[in-house]
Amino acid sequence: MTPDPTPAPILHVENLSHRYGTAAVVEVAAWTVQAGEPWLLLGASGSGKTTLLHCLAGILLPTEGSVRIAGTEWRTLGDAARDRFRGQHVGLLPQRLHLVDCLSVLDNLLLAQYAAGLPRDAAAARAVLEPLGLADRLHERPHRLSFGQQQRVALARALVNRPRLVLADEPTSNLDDASCAAALGLLLEQARRSGAALVIATHDRRIKDHVPRRLELTDGKAVPA
Ligand SMILES: Nc1ncnc2c1ncn2[C@@H]1O[C@H](COP(=O)(O)OP(=O)(O)OP(=O)(O)O)[C@@H](O)[C@H]1O
Ligand SMILES: [Mg+2]
Repeated sequence: MTPDPTPAPILHVENLSHRYGTAAVVEVAAWTVQAGEPWLLLGASGSGKTTLLHCLAGILLPTEGSVRIAGTEWRTLGDAARDRFRGQHVGLLPQRLHLVDCLSVLDNLLLAQYAAGLPRDAAAARAVLEPLGLADRLHERPHRLSFGQQQRVALARALVNRPRLVLADEPTSNLDDASCAAALGLLLEQARRSGAALVIATHDRRIKDHVPRRLELTDGKAVPA
């Protein structure tokens, strides 16, 4: 009997470089993230963290190099397939939350299911929202919630399709120390419970020592931190 082939890492980046115009913004020679691993992506403001996260999420195709998610290179997918693949395998918690204010909290999650080409499943959406303390806000519009509550809705939306990779962009900026610790704890705990790999992009030095695997962007180049 032939043994099972080694599963592809959840994320594999090779010789990536992205430019807006002529200036290279971010360069990553090689980076591998295995299933279930939490990582920090560190770097000063403007160092290219959001640009790199968007390359990882297949929102941007890098100028050069490759990004593979569980063995699938973004470039091999057409636009519609890329959106579906992202919806099913990558949970994005964006820097600006981008919740849809004309929909309820619950409907924001059903929209994420629909956009990924998955059946709308209100029970699954409730099961993600309730442990985040949002059980009594399911039918509320997001703009009527506090920022911390809105952030938890965005986290629930990132998790609802059970992604293998969660990307969080500056989830603790603008939070006081107690809220920062709570938001970080929630992210790590939720990713651990769902078995997802997690990349947190941050310039928040308060959380630097809480995650042992780190990549730092310095002058646009990635180095282990
Ligand atoms: N769409 C764009 N067109 C041109 N330049 C851009 C674009 N988006 C970002 N940049 C530039 O790329 C660089 C990196 O920006 P990026 O948003 O990736 O940094 P960041 O590390 O996420 O910053 P912050 O910590 O402030 O969120 C900056 O110099 C920015 O001005
Ligand atoms: Mg950013």
